[in-house]
Amino acid sequence: MLELNDIRFGWEADPPVIETLSLKVRAGDKLVLLGANGCGKSTLLKLMNGLIEPQSGSLLYEGMPLTKSALAERHFARRFRTECALLFQHPEAMLFNPTVREEIAYGPRQLGLADVEARVAHWAAALGLTALLDKPPFLLSGGEKQKVALAAILVLEPKLLLLDEPSASLDPASVGWLIDLLIESSMTVVAATHNLSLAAELGSRCIVLDPRGRLLFDGPVEAALGNLALLEEAHLAHRHRHRHGGAQHSHLHAHDWGSS
Ligand SMILES: Nc1ncnc2c1ncn2[C@@H]1O[C@H](COP(=O)(O)OP(=O)(O)O)[C@@H](O)[C@H]1O
Ligand SMILES: [Mg+2]
Repeated sequence: MLELNDIRFGWEADPPVIETLSLKVRAGDKLVLLGANGCGKSTLLKLMNGLIEPQSGSLLYEGMPLTKSALAERHFARRFRTECALLFQHPEAMLFNPTVREEIAYGPRQLGLADVEARVAHWAAALGLTALLDKPPFLLSGGEKQKVALAAILVLEPKLLLLDEPSASLDPASVGWLIDLLIESSMTVVAATHNLSLAAELGSRCIVLDPRGRLLFDGPVEAALGNLALLEEAHLAHRHRHRHGGAQHSHLHAHDWGSS
């Protein structure tokens, strides 16, 4: 579905965030992207969403080159924007409409989809947002904003869903709902997280990036999560001292402290 070939990307004059990366996302994959802060997960998702272009290497979506100039072509842009959606790490950056209802309806209207009202009602109900539909998004709590941003994307019923830290401000019940939805759907999902329990439940396949944006691992989630040396190399596990009932000892440890 999505193919990345020898991608190299750096922000402006900075050293490359992604030195070289090749990756194939297959239709139906539930792929979890793991890596420490700053290793390039959000950057990679923006590349996959065609928002930025690599300095070298190529991306193919369903065999078609994914470039700025390809996306300048209306037919391809409409198709790609309908089929591939990205939930940003900071969802408030996405919200700009006067009401939650308009926020969720915005994408489908822009893309000229049918049944906008019914779609909005369905996804608002699914995410428990019905009572908030007439409120301005900026008044909502962080978790509510994230749900609105999620509804605004799911309403497009994308084929390829890119999620950047989707559990960052959701309560546990909402994370559970999201995991069930993603597992049961036929959507291809790429989710960046450093929440290892979310990774364990959501993913079947796992990509681990090292702090320099290089591919450390591509394989089954259980194999990654069971490999503490790998997690330590990716800065996802940490050797530290702590106390159990008064006795202090030191060991290698994977954590699940929040996810932002
Ligand atoms: N818009 C941007 N402009 C310049 N540098 C950026 C931008 N976005 C991210 N970076 C830098 O790129 C690196 C990777 O960031 P990011 O992809 O957000 O990592 P992650 O999502 O894994 O935490 C960081 O060093 C970050 O400071
Ligand atoms: Mg990020």
